[in-house]
Amino acid sequence: MEYRGKETSDIDSWKEVRLVYSSALKEIGTKLEILNDEFQHVHKYNPIEHIKSRIKTSDRIVKKLKKHGYESTIENMVRYVNDIAGVRIICSFTTDVYRIAQMLERQRDLNIMDVKDYIRYPKSSGYKSYHMIVSVPIYLSERRVEAKVEIQIRTVAMDFWASLEHKINYKFDVNVPDYIQNELFACAKMVSELDEKMLSLNEEVKALDLDR
Ligand code: GTP
Ligand code: MG
Repeated sequence: MEYRGKETSDIDSWKEVRLVYSSALKEIGTKLEILNDEFQHVHKYNPIEHIKSRIKTSDRIVKKLKKHGYESTIENMVRYVNDIAGVRIICSFTTDVYRIAQMLERQRDLNIMDVKDYIRYPKSSGYKSYHMIVSVPIYLSERRVEAKVEIQIRTVAMDFWASLEHKINYKFDVNVPDYIQNELFACAKMVSELDEKMLSLNEEVKALDLDR
């Protein structure tokens, strides 16, 4: 694969792309660990169940650029592909999703570039998740660069639904039959109900603890 490098003074080779974006994932990872630890310390409770992160492979980046009609240059990657670095944060409860998002939004060295709240406004498929595009400064030996990271925050139940839906879409390649889409939509409704029930159950149990 050939990239026309040296087009930007910021990031100018595929190796550097990987270096910068994996550094960005480390920065975000550390921030999340600190928030989770502090939350455990203050509230005796972890809002984060687990975290997954990944760097998009070069072929997937090139595919995405092509899809949007852009040439495969490093400059275009950095400018147009917002999810070269991706972090997925899985929480138990919807309230935790918003709590984590708020904690990140308050951090002064994180520049929040875009937010999509697919929990409040689910996609027509039924997809629910809270998405943020943030940029984080990376300090290299000679300069500072900003790297974008796509952060997806969702509950365990939402994640379960999204991975099955993704697998199904992948399997069918073209169009998923209507009846399967309908079943998936019905499942998404169940996911929302489950999330609500689990949250209220948890609140009830917490209230019992306080009475003791
Ligand atoms: P891309 O879809 O990545 O081009 O970005 P976008 O600008 O459309 O942003 P959006 O926030 O809609 O999607 C970003 C990412 O969220 C996707 O790459 C998927 O990982 C995930 N996602 C969005 N919609 C769905 C969906 O309907 N189902 C599943 N399983 N994942 C989705
Ligand atoms: Mg999309």
